[in-house]
Amino acid sequence: MKNFLAIRDFSTEELNELLDLSIRLKKLYKSGGRDVCLGGKVLAMLFEKTSLRTRISFQVAMTDLGGTAIYLKPEDIGIIGKREPAKDMARVFSRYVDGIMARTFLHETLVELARWAMVPVINALSDWSHPCQVMADLMTILEHFGRLEGLTLAYVGDGNNVARSLAYGCAKFGLKYRIATPEEYALDQDTIRQANTIRPDTVYQTKEPADAVKNADVVYTDTWVSMGQESEKEKRIADFQGFQVNSQLLAGAPAHVKIMHCLPAYRGFEITDEVAEADSCIIFDQAENRLHFQRALLKTLLSGSSSL
Ligand code: CP
Ligand code: NVA
Repeated sequence: MKNFLAIRDFSTEELNELLDLSIRLKKLYKSGGRDVCLGGKVLAMLFEKTSLRTRISFQVAMTDLGGTAIYLKPEDIGIIGKREPAKDMARVFSRYVDGIMARTFLHETLVELARWAMVPVINALSDWSHPCQVMADLMTILEHFGRLEGLTLAYVGDGNNVARSLAYGCAKFGLKYRIATPEEYALDQDTIRQANTIRPDTVYQTKEPADAVKNADVVYTDTWVSMGQESEKEKRIADFQGFQVNSQLLAGAPAHVKIMHCLPAYRGFEITDEVAEADSCIIFDQAENRLHFQRALLKTLLSGSSSL
């Protein structure tokens, strides 16, 4: 494992090892222990877009493991490749640091960085995917249900980067994925085909939120307006009417259902305040697990070892 760009690039066994290490490191740190396996190592964090969770959890994870992180904000680097080509940036960073994590608009920028970097490159969200988020989400589901295989995850909203990573995550771990979107915002056929090739019958796509959630163990949603889509905001809000996760929709889901959202949440749009504040809502467990998963990821990629 050199880079971490997409869930689909890894076997279930490799992904399971990462989840297992995340859980072991979480226990270790909660009980006051430390694993300073990255002493002296430096991570460069490149952001073309803003961030709260990803930035802070990666920075804390590096510090926890004995290393340091350098934050390059959108104003510092702008769009990667604009001032100088991504292939040059990748080789310059490789002379200074031990790992690069990047949040980009184009997924191809990450691929190009990874192609030229001599050090690991981590996807901290692109327009195409958000794999670190979904690995933390799977860890959260595992903690709440005690298993992943055989569960049903319903996603209601935009067929976006998070929805796409969820499709691959569900396929790799044996969850059924029922996604409801307006037609214009459907998850692309390529992703559905690939997820169903990894595991047949993983993805079921519908235009009816009620159809998606009826047998769900988890109902997941994300913003209707992702970073970079701000100019489409009004149209999107109009187009997504009927796709809100609210108590009326959840009345048609099983009583044990858990609610998830990668955050930031826009209350009154894709989710109501009432649902976001309900006991069944596990959004802050998800946010916390970003830290635990990324500790495991950084340890694996930058120290080359998963032993504790
Ligand atoms: N969920 C997530 O990635 O949050 P940030 O955009 O705040 O990093
Ligand atoms: N889909 C959202 C996720 C934010 C974490 C976006 O890309 O803005």
